[in-house]
Amino acid sequence: MFKKDLLKGKSILITGGGTGLGKEMGNHFAEHGADLFICGRRENVLKETANEITEKYGTKVNYQTLDIRASKDVDDYIESIFDNKPLDGLVNNAAGNFISPTKDLSHKGFDAIANIVFHGTFYMTHSVGKRWIEKQHKGSIINILATWIWTGSPYVVPSAMSKSGIHAMTQSLAAEWGKYQIKVNGIAPGPFPTKGAWDRLNPSSDKDSMEAVNVPLGRVGEMKELQNLATFLMADDCDYLTGQTIALDGAQYLTGGGTFSQLDKLSDEDWENMRKLIRDANNKDKADRS
Ligand code: HXC
Repeated sequence: MFKKDLLKGKSILITGGGTGLGKEMGNHFAEHGADLFICGRRENVLKETANEITEKYGTKVNYQTLDIRASKDVDDYIESIFDNKPLDGLVNNAAGNFISPTKDLSHKGFDAIANIVFHGTFYMTHSVGKRWIEKQHKGSIINILATWIWTGSPYVVPSAMSKSGIHAMTQSLAAEWGKYQIKVNGIAPGPFPTKGAWDRLNPSSDKDSMEAVNVPLGRVGEMKELQNLATFLMADDCDYLTGQTIALDGAQYLTGGGTFSQLDKLSDEDWENMRKLIRDANNKDKADRS
């Protein structure tokens, strides 16, 4: 889909880059020539991913253990990167989430999610953005969100609240930082099953149960679809695209949210009956009027 050197010369930081969606995006950026920085809480997975990507694509992959909830650690880490060379891209991918009835959440449970998603994403964005502004260096930020920023969602309320806040940040900073050549966009993936997410969002059921629910395309997302969109947003030459969160969900959230979505389940025979019932109602009205 893209030229192999599309991202050559760029340095891109991916939070939570050792596993899941972060790792997939990292692979694709590296395949297209970018050097990577990946951070996360588990050194072993970071190291493994860094070695794997370097071996495959020959690009540099630096890794660092970091909990993005610790604001000072975040700023020190970004300082150490910029001391050497400014980043060109940031992917705010690290997140925390689990399903729970909201009434059963403890305040610490709420904070565990909000501190990662809402606070941590801001710390990271602020640390990178202020250095881009200071150095007059162009940059691209991608925030990994979820379609519940538009719809809300039961049972994942701390995530829905926090990710909605980051969507607001996406729009706000696109406007505030556009003059510094910093673009800020979001991707809201639908079902792209990964171990980290599915262990917490679909823990008890067999693998397929919630995967493609209400997806008109009838399937889950393919990693290459996410990789292609992220690479496009990281590349130059479409800088006018900023402040947007793009749903990548096979129209799942539009289907679930539509008033008549459930009609999707009707057979041709059901529709024939519906038409007959509607015709009967119309004819009755006409008879009443005459
Ligand atoms: C109720 C829970 C709970 C659960 C944790 N808690 N799990 N409460 N139900 N299933 C509560 C704990 O009881 C505790 O509160 C508080 O949360 C903190 O728990 P810790 O385990 O000490 O927190 P911590 O080690 O900081 O772990 C953070 C975490 C964990 C978010 C809870 O799940 C994590 O590290 N996740 C990272 C990876 C992740 O979540 N990936 C999925 C992202 S999916 P008390 O009061 O008891 O002390 C995503 C969107 C996907 O973001 C979209 C798909 C469509």
